[in-house]
Amino acid sequence: MKVVILAAGKGTRMRSSLPKVLQPLAGKTLLQHVVDTAKELNAEQILTVVGHQSHLIEEAMIDQGVDFVAQTEQLGTGHAVQQAIPEITDNDTVLVLYGDVPLTAKSTLDDLLNLVSDEHPLGLLTINLDNPSGYGRIIRDQHLAVQAIVEQKDANPEQLKITEVNTGILAAKGAKLKGWLSRLESNNAQGEFYLTDIIAMCVADGFAVQTTQPQAEIEVLGVNDKCQLQSLERDYQMQLANELMVQGATVIDASRLDIRGSVEVGQDVEIDVNVILEGAVKLADGVKVGANCILKNVIIATGTQIHPFSHLEDCVVGQNANIGPYARLRPGTELADSVRIGNFVETKKAKIGIGSKVNHLSYIGDTLMGEGCNIGAGSITCNYDGVNKHQTVIGNKVFVGSDSQLVAPVEIGDGATIGAGSTITKDSPAGELTLSRSKQVTMKGWQKPDKK
Ligand code: UD1
Ligand code: CA
Repeated sequence: MKVVILAAGKGTRMRSSLPKVLQPLAGKTLLQHVVDTAKELNAEQILTVVGHQSHLIEEAMIDQGVDFVAQTEQLGTGHAVQQAIPEITDNDTVLVLYGDVPLTAKSTLDDLLNLVSDEHPLGLLTINLDNPSGYGRIIRDQHLAVQAIVEQKDANPEQLKITEVNTGILAAKGAKLKGWLSRLESNNAQGEFYLTDIIAMCVADGFAVQTTQPQAEIEVLGVNDKCQLQSLERDYQMQLANELMVQGATVIDASRLDIRGSVEVGQDVEIDVNVILEGAVKLADGVKVGANCILKNVIIATGTQIHPFSHLEDCVVGQNANIGPYARLRPGTELADSVRIGNFVETKKAKIGIGSKVNHLSYIGDTLMGEGCNIGAGSITCNYDGVNKHQTVIGNKVFVGSDSQLVAPVEIGDGATIGAGSTITKDSPAGELTLSRSKQVTMKGWQKPDKK
């Protein structure tokens, strides 16, 4: 089975410098959705027909194992599929998909492919629409056998009343498809080579055309402009939120959750409003995500709470940790169980041990921190000398007083205490109080100057 994806169209109505099929839906391009589905179907080859801005599309898909076929002039859907024919052998089954129809379910396409055989060389995916306007209509005879597809612009008033329409998606045997395509003509209202004309040819060859329908309309919706893109995004997001709820998550408002990747949830996960989950996200049992949080590529263990307005990226958080509000966990943050990261704290490449607390207004970067530490408000690991990054190592049960700077590379021993307001530039021994602070003085009898 080989997949041919049509993606040569201009997409004028998007009014965008980005090709239509590279517009994002739920965090990945429209074309990527289609390619991912083709891969799930184990296609032997994925051929993408490109024309307008083909270099951008090829660049975007460079590592995807997709082959590109050029259609320099857009002379119609039939002409587009013709361009891929040199890659098709007689025994192939060809599945035609569209770069701007992103959400067709694998099961629907499996059903369609199962219809196609040497006895039944053509299968169509059709759908009944309340408003069929714009689509090609499925013409059936009195025995309901498919006879042809008539495009909207070529249809007579009687045909325009038909509500069963062509989704465009079809599957055909290679040998027959080649023959039909070679006989296409463009003597129609749009002067194009219509792929849909192969239906009548198949019937004329004496074969019954098979049809199947998708479970849901969303599977065959195409995207032509930003309004349709938005509307498909919202419908799809609702579907993704529903899938999370079926897995046991409590979603406070499904219309205010955005999933741009793959999310796994345990039981009793709670997600408040305006949360964005990106990339690969795993939330174990009982994890609570507060309002307005953004989580990208994170693994969060059981019972951890993430309070509102926190931003986590490429990090791993242990059990029963307590994060935010307003925390920023940057890539390479690894928090052990019961760690507390408070408001306006930023971490980066920081491994923090069990039960340690960084409660307020701190920056912890390039740091290895042990268990049971307490880092006072406003403390900073000075990890960057303007040229290179350096490591700070903090032992177990270290207490760092507020407003301290630990100038890396530097090591603070187990059980050490750093006095508030210190700038620590040398290693500080275990178990001792270290501080660097100018002596406090009081100028006895000092007088304020008089105002002139
Ligand atoms: C097509 C079908 C119509 C169906 C509808 C579903 C034909 C003749 N008509 O009509 O029956 O109801 O889709 O949406 O097939 N493309 C190319 N090269 C071309 C022309 C098109 O790659 O030369 C691509 C476009 O980028 C687009 C897709 O094929 O993604 C469909 O083309 P479009 O012109 O939009 O077809 P419709 O007129 O909508
Ligand atoms: Ca179209």
